[in-house]
Amino acid sequence: MANTVIIGAQWGDEGKGKIVDMLSARSRAIVRFQGGNNAGHTIKVQGQETILHLIPSGILHEGTICLIGNGVVLDPHVFLQEVDQLSQRGIDVAPSRLGISKKTHLILPYHKSLDQAREAKRAGRKIGTTGRGIGPCYEDKAARVGLRAADLLDADLVRSKISHALEEKNILLSAYNFEPLDADAVSDELLAIAPRITPYLTEVEDRLQEVQNQGGDILFEGAQGVHLDIDHGTYPFVTSSNTVAGNAAAGCGLGPSSLTRVVGIVKAYTTRVGSGPFPTELLDDTGSYLRMEGYEFGATTGRPRRCGWLDAVILRESTRLNGLTDIALTKLDVLQNLPALQICVAYEYQGRRVEYVPQEEGALGKVTPIYEELGGFDDDISACSAWSDLPETVRSYVNRIEELVGVRISFISVGPDRRQTIER
Ligand code: GDP
Ligand code: IMO
Ligand code: MG
Repeated sequence: MANTVIIGAQWGDEGKGKIVDMLSARSRAIVRFQGGNNAGHTIKVQGQETILHLIPSGILHEGTICLIGNGVVLDPHVFLQEVDQLSQRGIDVAPSRLGISKKTHLILPYHKSLDQAREAKRAGRKIGTTGRGIGPCYEDKAARVGLRAADLLDADLVRSKISHALEEKNILLSAYNFEPLDADAVSDELLAIAPRITPYLTEVEDRLQEVQNQGGDILFEGAQGVHLDIDHGTYPFVTSSNTVAGNAAAGCGLGPSSLTRVVGIVKAYTTRVGSGPFPTELLDDTGSYLRMEGYEFGATTGRPRRCGWLDAVILRESTRLNGLTDIALTKLDVLQNLPALQICVAYEYQGRRVEYVPQEEGALGKVTPIYEELGGFDDDISACSAWSDLPETVRSYVNRIEELVGVRISFISVGPDRRQTIER
């Protein structure tokens, strides 16, 4: 292995958790570099499902070091809930193997309130955020008024930052007809749990450097997906961080030369949660079929996911934006029993055929997908463990994606379990 960045190549929920867990068996450290508990990463091992929102998906492998980088926004309550849940199952979550960067920004109750207040106000124009306070927390980071994890060591600093922040936030919350928050109550609540968080504070960049010096491999665990990136995604229907692989370095304090391999996780069809353009969306029975067979309901909010055909145009864009070296294709088993499979190979836009994603705001909502039809399959592939076990029709579908996107498909996932993965 080499240091490997894992990113979602579509709109999130591609199966990153599963692949990170699998590759963690060969890694020394796993680090989250952006996003927060808007993420929901699912791992299934021998029937037991684990959904992680903040703690890296490598935690189930003993002997790994799991780190939360400076680029993440961390809800301290959610972090502790995950620590407790894992520890109740006998999983080691001691600070010796789990750490939070001192520079990580904290999500506070007013971030959640503002996120929800704004969404409530945006009737008809909702982004469909997860309501976890992600956007408002990144706003405070950029506005240089955020609270960082290391601030928890200084009660006076916590109180003064929160009281200063609430002077402005309470004006906004009142304008949205939301309850204003009491600075002392918010501070007391945070300081009460601070002693449980501070043992986890660490210099993530040092820990990762040490792993590299000892010849260990690092896995960078992305959250969300390329087309939810704040710069490169379907703005304004995006999340508030850079989800592209380039941010893996900045989001944990290593140099870009540490990123060797970039694996894009691609679902064998496409899904999206929340609002925003989705050219290949299926609002018919096939869409419902994918939702039911793929159990496409959000791992964080439980919302039904919008479903559609695979879109090779957005995948080519993902390849370019991330320098993908490999693809892991997931949920191929879900396509079983569909009479035919469609892949969007290009768009029709303003009367012309285009091979790329038009960049003007809203343009992706105005394209018409141009499809290529491939044969379906009715064989159960969920027990296949080698490329040669897969039926010819399935191999043709995989080969065609490789051709259209121009990246080698190195992993094929045929079921949610850790073992249901074919490595080519
Ligand atoms: P993530 O956010 O990218 O980690 O993905 P999620 O965990 O939100 O959603 C992926 C869902 O698909 C989870 O329920 C996984 O257990 C499941 N899953 C992952 N890979 C496969 C697969 O190959 N086949 C099937 N049927 N389910 C899968
Ligand atoms: P994982 O890591 C899918 C979407 C939300 C909304 C938009 C902005 O599990 O793939 P936010 O709360 O981030 O401000 O919401 O981004 N979104 C996700 N969609 N998977 C995710 O994470 C997502 N995280 C955010 O639905 O459309
Ligand atoms: Mg998810």
